[in-house]
Order: sequence, then structure tokens, then C-alpha cells
Amino acid sequence: MYNNSMKNTKYKLFSKEQLEIGPESGYDNYIMAIESSCDETACAIVKNGREVIANVVASQIKTHAQFGGVIPEIAAREHLDAINVVIDEAFKQAGNLKPEDITAFAATVGPGLVGCLLVGLNAAKTLALTHDKPFIGVNHLNAHLCGNYIDTDLKPPYMALLVSGGHTQIIDVKSYSEQEILGETIDDAVGEAYDKVARLIGLPYPGGPRLDKLAQEGNPKAFKLPEGKVDGYNFSFSGLKTAVLRLVKSFDGQELPVNDICASFQETVSATLLKKLKKALEEKGYNQVVIAGGVAANSEIRKKIFALEDEGYKVFAPPMKYCTDNAAMVASCAYFNTNTFDDVNTEVFSRVK
Ligand code: KG4
Ligand code: ZN
Repeated sequence: MYNNSMKNTKYKLFSKEQLEIGPESGYDNYIMAIESSCDETACAIVKNGREVIANVVASQIKTHAQFGGVIPEIAAREHLDAINVVIDEAFKQAGNLKPEDITAFAATVGPGLVGCLLVGLNAAKTLALTHDKPFIGVNHLNAHLCGNYIDTDLKPPYMALLVSGGHTQIIDVKSYSEQEILGETIDDAVGEAYDKVARLIGLPYPGGPRLDKLAQEGNPKAFKLPEGKVDGYNFSFSGLKTAVLRLVKSFDGQELPVNDICASFQETVSATLLKKLKKALEEKGYNQVVIAGGVAANSEIRKKIFALEDEGYKVFAPPMKYCTDNAAMVASCAYFNTNTFDDVNTEVFSRVK
């Protein structure tokens, strides 16, 4: 944010008020955003936070599959190779929109892998400085929530379930910029638990989506697995992961009923998430609920959250392409969320501050 002590730095500094960006600005905003926090290099242009003009994602899945997980140094180098390509492609997709037509350039500044974040951040800052436009730094978690604004008329307040590879949170979204985390995981994130269990039963990386696919062929009641017992709106998934490990070991080399194990695991996770989400909805009296993050792509979690529609709730879940990491959600966040980091001196950060 702008402050007087920064006045004499050589960069132009902006506050959100000076920028006049967002729904209150009264004119059309075109935000170009870059996402590079993990293993996707992405660039998008979004009009007024909801209309996607361009959306380009270069995935590194093939590279990291060889190692069974994301190797930060390799990921950062791949971002460097891909960054100019995705920016050029986004302008191509946008047709006659030129850099001078962009209202502001945005990038994810954290949480994420620092070497990876730096690539996107510096690309967006360079575009901003070269074209004399503002730079907006975006929190990746807020951006995931904003995936729900794309092509919808969703407005706060609402309850959100954020489930990704690094986070599991129930968030009370009171306004575009005001959020309260009601609960979160005390150990593994849901995506992390999916990936670890997938590895345990011998599925290749990325485990989450593969486990989901096999689960759809299995019997969710085949094995009774423990739900993490934690107070309030917090979660715990490490006990469940250990229970699956014990179950796998109990087969002692015999052929594993993989589909049934996947289905039982998926049932336990989705039931736990939904139980707490529903409790939060009831307590706050909201009638809108959203799901966000990479794990929002999960078939059973989606099924259970959409079943809330039968109870009168309005349910939002981004289409698959805006669930996993993408830059359209980052652009939307830069537009709607005033709680961003709006100056060109902004640094990256690896963990939630
Ligand atoms: O949000 P995201 O793309 O990256 C992070 O910010 O973490 O989420 C990635 C996570 C991975 O753990 C991946 O296995 C998981 O989302 N994931 C899934 C599914 N699709 C992606 N987990 C379960 N079921 C899926 N269909
Ligand atoms: Zn993510």
C-alpha cells in the first residue's frame, strides 16, 4: 500500500483508491494477470473481474511426473521458459487488445514457491513499468475464491470451502475484501492427503485426480475409515492417511482392492468436509456457498456440495479450468479484492502471512 515514506522511491506507487480499479471505478477494467506459484505458468486477461478475454495455461505436469512431485528449482526454470510464450499467447487470444489498453498488470505474490513466484512477479512488474501502468500483487488463496466470480453474478456474503494442495479452510467471506478464516487443517491439506494416499497405493503423480477417477469405480462403504476428530471448524487428515497405510499393509502383498480403497477414502474426506461446511452455513445463516482450489475439481466433493441446492442453498463451483491453478482467477482477484499489494516494490512470500 502507498505510504509517505515510499514517496521518493524511483517506482511509481499506487494505492487502490488512486488506481480506481474495481467495481466502483465506473469504467471498463482490463486486467492482465500472471500465475506462477507452483507448476503452472499462466496468463489471462479478464474484463471487469468476470469476463475472460484470454486464458492461457502451460502445465509442467509431464516434467514433474518423472520425479513424482514438484521440484522447485526445475519448476522455476520451466516458468522462465514459458513466461513470454504465455504472455504473447494471451495477447493473441485477446485479438486487438494491446498492452496500452490494459488497466493494470497483476501477479500472484504468494503463498507459493519463491523461485517460481519471482518469475511471474517480475514479468508483471516489467510489463507495468514498461507500459506505465499499475502493478497489483495478489494472494493465491484469495484468487482461488475469485475463480467463482468468473461468468457468474456471485456477490458476498457467502461461505467458502477452499481445498487445495497446500490449504484446507472454511472462510466466511463477508465482503469482496473482508474474510474470516473460521477453520483450517491442523496437519495435511486435503490435496496433500490425496496425493500421499495415491502414492501409497502406487498411483503415479499427480495422484489426486487419478484417485478420484478410481474412486468412482469403487464401493465407498467397503472400508470404514476414521474421520479426524478436531474441534470447531478445523480439520485433520493425517490420521486418515495412516489408517489407509495400515489398511494397505493388512493386504500383505495380496492384490489391493484399489478402487474400493479409493472410494472409501474419498467418501470419508468428502463427508468430513461437508459436515463442517454445513455447520458453518447454518451458524452464519448464509444461503450462498462456494468451493474453490484444485481439489474443488473432485467429483464426490462437487456432488455433495451441489446436493445442498436441494436444501435451498445457492451453490457455486468454478468450472474445472478455473479450479486448478490459472491466471483468470488472479485477474478477477486483482479487480474485486481491495486487500491486495498494490505497489511495484511488492515482494513474494512463501507462506500465508
Ligand atoms: O489449487 P491447486 O491447483 O494447487 C495448489 O495451490 O495447491 O491444487 C492442486 C491439488 C493437488 O493436490 C491435486 O492432487 C489436487 O489439487 N486435485 C485433486 C483433484 N484435482 C486436483 N484432488 C482430488 N480430486 C481431484 N479431482
Ligand atoms: Zn492453487
